[in-house]
Amino acid sequence: MTVSYKELGFVNTREMFKKAMDGGYAVPAYNFNNLEQIQAIINGCGRSRSPVILQVSKGARDYANATLLRNMGKGAVEMAREQGYEIPVALHLDHGDTYELCVSCIENGFSSVMIDGSHHPYEKNVELTKKVVDYAHKYDVSVEGELGVLAGIEDDVVAAKSVYTQPEEVEDFVKKTGVDSLAISIGTSHGAYKFKPEQCTRNQEGVLVPPPLRFDILEEIQKRIPGFPIVLHGSSSVLPKYVDLINNNGGALEAAVGIPEGQLRKAAKSAVCKINIDSDGRLVVTAMIRKVFHEKPAEFDPRKYLGPARDELMNMIIEKNKNVLGSADQY
Ligand code: G3H
Ligand code: 13P
Ligand code: ZN
Repeated sequence: MTVSYKELGFVNTREMFKKAMDGGYAVPAYNFNNLEQIQAIINGCGRSRSPVILQVSKGARDYANATLLRNMGKGAVEMAREQGYEIPVALHLDHGDTYELCVSCIENGFSSVMIDGSHHPYEKNVELTKKVVDYAHKYDVSVEGELGVLAGIEDDVVAAKSVYTQPEEVEDFVKKTGVDSLAISIGTSHGAYKFKPEQCTRNQEGVLVPPPLRFDILEEIQKRIPGFPIVLHGSSSVLPKYVDLINNNGGALEAAVGIPEGQLRKAAKSAVCKINIDSDGRLVVTAMIRKVFHEKPAEFDPRKYLGPARDELMNMIIEKNKNVLGSADQY
C-alpha cells in the first residue's frame, strides 16, 4: 500500500528552504527513534514556532518499524495542530544509501529523502542521485544529495583535504541530478567525537576548541550555485554541560568535541538552509537518565527517567532554534 505524505500532513522542504534562505536562518533537522524524542522535537519546535524536519535514519526505521514511525510522525503533526502550532513539518529519510530504500520511504509517507552517494565515485553518485530524483519528483518529494565525505572519528579531517566538497563539482552535480538541496563537507563530522584532541587548541578555561569550519569552501560553493539550499550534517555542538553531567553520573565520555555554536550561527545566516542534529539529543537524553538513576536508584518507572530526559531535550531544542539556527518565531 502506498501512502502519500500529503495525506499525513507533512510538507516537502521546498518552501521551507526558500523561506530560510530569504530569512537568513536554517531549518533544524532533528533525528528521532522513539516516542520521547518526537514529543520533544514537535513540542520544542511548536513552542519556538520553528519549522522542523523530522529525520529518520535507516537504523531508526529498522529499530522502530517503518509503519509505526510513519504513524508517529502523523500523530506528531496532529498533536501540533491540536496545540495550535502552525509550523510546517517534513518527514525526511536521513542518509538513504540505496534507490530501493528511498522508494520505500516515498511510498511510506516521507516528504523528503536523502540519497547519500557521497562514498561512490562522482559519476556513480550522479547516476544514483538522478535516479532517485526522477522517481521522487513524480510524487513531489524533495531530494537531498551529498558531495564530499564527512570525516569520521577515524579520519583526519584537517589533513585529509580530499574529504571536503570540491566547489568545482557542485554546479555540474546539481544540474545533472536535479536535487533540491546539497549536503556538503566543510569540516563537520558525525557523532560526539568529531575531532581528536591533537587537532584542537585549548581556550583559557582549558576547553578544547576545534579547527574552524571551511567557510572559504562554503563561499566558493555559494558563488557557483547562488541561492541553492545547502545542508550541514554532523552539526551537533556536543555541549560540555551534558558531557559533564554524563561523566559525573558514571559515564565515561573522553575528549568529546563538537562544532562551536558560533560557527553554526554563522553558517545558518548563509545558504545553509538545513542543519542536522542527532548526537546532541542523544547526549541530553543519556545525561538526564544517568542523573535520575544516580540520584534515585530505587526508581523503576520509565516515565520518571524518560520524562525528565524528554523535557530537557525539548529545552535544548528551543535554545538551539532561538540562539543557534535562528529558526524560532518564523511561524
Ligand atoms: O548521521 C547519522 C545519524 O546520526 C543517524 O544515526 O544511523 O545511528 O540512526 P543512526
Ligand atoms: P551529529 O552526529 O553531529 O548530531 O550529526 C547528525 C547528522 O548529521 C544526521 O544526519
Ligand atoms: Zn548525517
